Amino acid sequence: MLKVINIVGARPNFIKIAPIYRQMQQSGRFHPILIHTGQHYDEKMSQLFFKDLSMPKPDEYLGVGSGSHAEQTGKIMVALEKSIIIQKPDLILVVGDVNSTLAASILASKLSIPVAHVEAGLRSGDRSMPEEINRIITDSISDYLFVTEKSGLDHLKSEGISESKIHFTGNVMIDSLIDNLQKLNGVDILNHFSLQPKKYALVTLHRPSNVDQENSIKMIIDAFGKIQLEMPVIFPIHPRTRKMLDLFGLKSHVDAMPDLHLIDPVGYLVFLTLMKHAGIVLTDSGGIQEETTWLGIQCLTLRPNTERPSTVTLGTNRLVPLNTEGIITAFHDAIDHPKNGRIPPLWDGQTAQRIVDVLSDIYKKSN
Ligand code: UD1
Ligand code: UDP
Repeated sequence: MLKVINIVGARPNFIKIAPIYRQMQQSGRFHPILIHTGQHYDEKMSQLFFKDLSMPKPDEYLGVGSGSHAEQTGKIMVALEKSIIIQKPDLILVVGDVNSTLAASILASKLSIPVAHVEAGLRSGDRSMPEEINRIITDSISDYLFVTEKSGLDHLKSEGISESKIHFTGNVMIDSLIDNLQKLNGVDILNHFSLQPKKYALVTLHRPSNVDQENSIKMIIDAFGKIQLEMPVIFPIHPRTRKMLDLFGLKSHVDAMPDLHLIDPVGYLVFLTLMKHAGIVLTDSGGIQEETTWLGIQCLTLRPNTERPSTVTLGTNRLVPLNTEGIITAFHDAIDHPKNGRIPPLWDGQTAQRIVDVLSDIYKKSN
C-alpha cells in the first residue's frame, strides 16, 4: 500500500482533496491519511465542508490557526514534522497555493519525502500575491506536478522543470463541482432571501490587495452598492473581509444598502446553489473563476490578473478594472453581452481518477 499524507488547511483545499481522497480509498492500493493544519478553523470555513463533502474527520488536526505568514508557515512546519516522522509516508500530497501547501511541501522535501502538487504551474505573474510565492516554491520542489490547464504546462516548462515530472490531468475542483451538483435538491437558499433565478448577483471578496486597504475595499463596496440598486446582491463574507469592514468602520455603510445581503460564509452545497442560479458572479476567488466557467455563469474577476487564464480565453470570466465605474461598466457589459464560454480540456469530473492512476503506476514501477 502506498501511504500518502494528504494536506488540507484552508477552505478551497477541502474541496480539492475530497475527490482525490475518495479515489485513493476506492483504489485499494493506497493508505490515505488526512492532516488538517487548522489554517482555517471557523465552523463555517472548515467543519461544514467535511460534512457537505462527506469527508471523514481528519486523522490529525494541527490547530495552527491564524498569524503572520512566517508564524503560520513556521507553526505548520513544526507541528507537521512530528507527524511525518511518526507516520513515515511514501508521499505527501498538497493542493493549491495556500500557506499550508507551501509549509508542507518545504517540510516534505527537507525530509526527503516525495511531494505531489495538485494544481501546479498556475502563475499570475504578480509576486505581490502571497499565493504566487507559494506556487513558485512548491512547484520548484515537487516531484509530481499535476496541471489543470495549458498555461500551467507552459510555465513549468519555461521554469525548467523536467517534463517527466509534469502530468496534465485536469481540474479536481470540477470533479467536486460535478459530484455535488447532484446533491442540491434539498437546498432552499433562494427562497430564504426571496431571490429569483438569474436575477441576482453573487459576490465574494477576500484578497488582501482588495480588502486590507480602506480605499480599495470601499471602492469595491461602492460598486456593489450601485449594483444592488439594479439587482439584489448576495455576499457571503470571508472572515478576513468582515474583520476589515469592522476595522475601517464600513459595516454601517454596507448595512445601509437595502438589497445587499451580507451573510456569513456558506457551506459548499449552499454556495453551489447560489452560484448555479446567479445572473452574474463578482469575485476575487481563484476557484470561483473556474466553477463559473464550467457552469457557464458570467464572472467578473476583481483583479488585474489571473493565474487561471483559460477561464478568460475559453470561459466566461473577465478581468475588471479596479475602480467603481470600471466595475459598473463591466457589470453592464456582461449582462448585455454575455460571453459564450467553453469548458477547458479535461475539466470533466475524472481528474482525481487520472491523478490516482498516475501515482499508482509510478508506485508499481518502483516496487
Ligand atoms: C487564505 C489563503 C488564500 C485563499 C484563502 C481561501 C494564504 C496565504 N492565503 O487566505 O490563498 O484564497 O485562504 O479562503 O494561505 N480567519 C478567521 N477564521 C478562519 C480563518 C481565517 O477568522 O477560520 C480570519 C483571521 O482573522 C485571519 C484572516 O481571516 O487572520 C486571514 O486568514 P488566512 O488563512 O491567513 O488567509 P486568508 O485570507 O483566509
Ligand atoms: N465557497 C463556499 N462558500 C463560500 C464561498 C466560497 O463554499 O461562502 C467555495 C467556492 O465554491 C469554491 C471555494 O469555496 O469552491 C473557493 O474558496 P475561496 O474563494 O475561499 O479560495 P480561493 O479559491 O480563492 O483560493
